[in-house]
Amino acid sequence: MRVDVLTIFPELIDQYAGASILGRAQSAGLLDVRTHDLRDATSDVHRTVDDSPFGGGAGMVLKPEPIYETVRREDVARPLFYLSPAGRRLDQPFAAELAELDGFSLLCGRYEGVDERVRDDLIDGEISIGDYVLAGGELGALVVIEAVARLRPGVLGNSASPEDESFGTGLGGGGLLEYPQYTRPAEFEGRAIPDVLRSGNHKLIEDWRLAQALARTIEHRPDLIRARGGLSAAEEKLLARFELARGSDAAEQ
Ligand SMILES: C[S@@+](CC[C@H](N)C(=O)[O-])C[C@H]1O[C@@H](n2cnc3c(N)ncnc32)[C@H](O)[C@@H]1O
Repeated sequence: MRVDVLTIFPELIDQYAGASILGRAQSAGLLDVRTHDLRDATSDVHRTVDDSPFGGGAGMVLKPEPIYETVRREDVARPLFYLSPAGRRLDQPFAAELAELDGFSLLCGRYEGVDERVRDDLIDGEISIGDYVLAGGELGALVVIEAVARLRPGVLGNSASPEDESFGTGLGGGGLLEYPQYTRPAEFEGRAIPDVLRSGNHKLIEDWRLAQALARTIEHRPDLIRARGGLSAAEEKLLARFELARGSDAAEQ
């Protein structure tokens, strides 16, 4: 998968995308993150990428020419998304959609954003990473790349499956938060791990994990339970079996 990133801070992207999971994915040829410095597409001695807004007002705006020039010269992968608070909010289903593509590009804004003509004519869509305002699109681009790349086959290795994680499609049929995880030591500062995890009974462990995932989702994200259409009778029974709070009341609120 090729991801082109258009930015005035390519080093921010290169450093993060060169380390850990993304770095390994790139070394393995599963991911190809190409950064493009918008300043390389300027023609003045100061490598100017911004200018003051027509009509006045605070802040600066990214000029259109370096962005158009970069997109055309580098023939960046399409679709080209602009990181923006006004974009479609990134969530796991959206990340899964992007993971189906052979590639895409991310344009990182700065200052007050980009000249509107870029949004009108050049980009194919906009992505937001949440309802808050960052200083630039670089963190958003990295969030998108990491969320998408780890859904690509082979990126997490064979042992880990993104389907069984929070928001995945596997655990309990999908749309739940993940169950609690423990590692050694089995007892830490007087607190022991749940006995079931040392039972060696795989079916029991699987049931316990699903019950925990349901209980956690009911407690922290009842909206996710509602989005699944509430709890099934089998799920209610499972919660009762492990003496976890009955979910339907919370999920219906
Ligand atoms: C200071 S922000 C500009 C905010 C813009 N003036 C507004 O009110 O919508 C600078 C850049 O950061 C990026 N950015 C800020 N918040 C973001 C978010 N929630 N999601 C994605 N990108 C964001 C965008 O690329 C944006 O152009």
